[in-house]
Amino acid sequence: MTPGHSIFIIVLTVANVAGAVWLLWWMRRARGQTTTLTETTGHVWDEDLVELNNPLPRWWLWLFIITVIFGGVYLALYPGLGAWKGTLAWSSRGEHDAQRAANAARIERSLSRFAALSVADLSHDSAALNAGRNLFLNNCAACHGSDGGGAPGYPNLTDGDWLWGGDPAAVAMTIAEGRQGVMPAWSAALGNEGVDDVLSYVLGLQGRRVDVGNPQAGAEKFAQLCVACHGADARGNPLLGAPNLSDPVWLHGGSAPAVRASIADGRGGKMPAHAGRLGETRVKLLAAYVLSLSAPADVTVARAGAADAGADTR
Ligand code: HEC
Ligand code: HEC
Repeated sequence: MTPGHSIFIIVLTVANVAGAVWLLWWMRRARGQTTTLTETTGHVWDEDLVELNNPLPRWWLWLFIITVIFGGVYLALYPGLGAWKGTLAWSSRGEHDAQRAANAARIERSLSRFAALSVADLSHDSAALNAGRNLFLNNCAACHGSDGGGAPGYPNLTDGDWLWGGDPAAVAMTIAEGRQGVMPAWSAALGNEGVDDVLSYVLGLQGRRVDVGNPQAGAEKFAQLCVACHGADARGNPLLGAPNLSDPVWLHGGSAPAVRASIADGRGGKMPAHAGRLGETRVKLLAAYVLSLSAPADVTVARAGAADAGADTR
């Protein structure tokens, strides 16, 4: 608010209140008078219809006085007169911040009972899994799907197949620190034919055949170029996030054209780090929830609940 704007509002408000007080003073002549049936305002309508000039009722006058006093006190305590902040220094922002802080403290208190538990313990605690499910829907569902089922490029978290390792510590590490998978592009190094060879070898690992390429030549190229990351048996490497290529679980699609594109053009995926924003306890709750998605029986209650909540938010 500019000083000119502030002064304008102060003058306008004070003049209004002063006007109201003046009106009260002017009306004081009415004090003590009782209703008359003779004094009129002098206005006449329809020849004989006149307006009586009676004093205002007492209760009305008092209401008026109380309103003026209330206004004065309010303007002294609260912001209202231009840039004057009021003696209570109240502000809507301050009130909002205080409520937020109180809310955050309440949530921290409710989380504190999970802080000392391990991910493994939390994954058997239905209250912890509920909290984890809410955190998942708010922080992870946009990429992994509300049921954790994933999408091309975003891993399915419910299938028990892990790029970066599926033990509690590895999953918690993935969520806390984030992960970045880098698959280089090979079209330049291998040429079209070479890519086809490797493609026929890779799909051959699962007993699939394509009409192009030579699997033997592909096997040689694979041994030269790919084993460093995907391993000699093509079962992947959780230290690099290199997927197992010998099973039918695909991150970027398992059709022959999709696998060919993975090899020729390369792929990459970034799982963002969450430790800074969510803190250790929430990361543990999320890891427990994520593990419960692919765990058997004892946590099926929470999983059924998750499916319901997912349907609501989809
Ligand atoms: C530097 C390590 C590295 C090398 C070398 C490498 N890859 Fe990969 N590859 C990866 C990583 C990491 C991913 C996962 C990419 C992601 O996270 O999106 C991947 C993904 C893939 C995929 C997609 C898998 C899926 O589930 O969709 C295929 C297919 C693949 N690689 C084949 C190969 C072949 C064939 C070679 C050799 C010509 C090769 N890779 C060499 C690291 C590597
Ligand atoms: C911006 C999108 C995005 C968000 C948000 C996100 N993720 Fe991910 N996440 C990914 C991608 C992409 C990968 C795969 C990284 C790669 O290619 O190796 C991944 C990988 C993972 C993995 C490893 C899966 C495996 O097979 O090893 C886990 C576990 C995971 N995310 C859990 C979570 C959780 C829990 C949250 C919420 C706190 C979350 N993610 C939020 C994109 C996201």
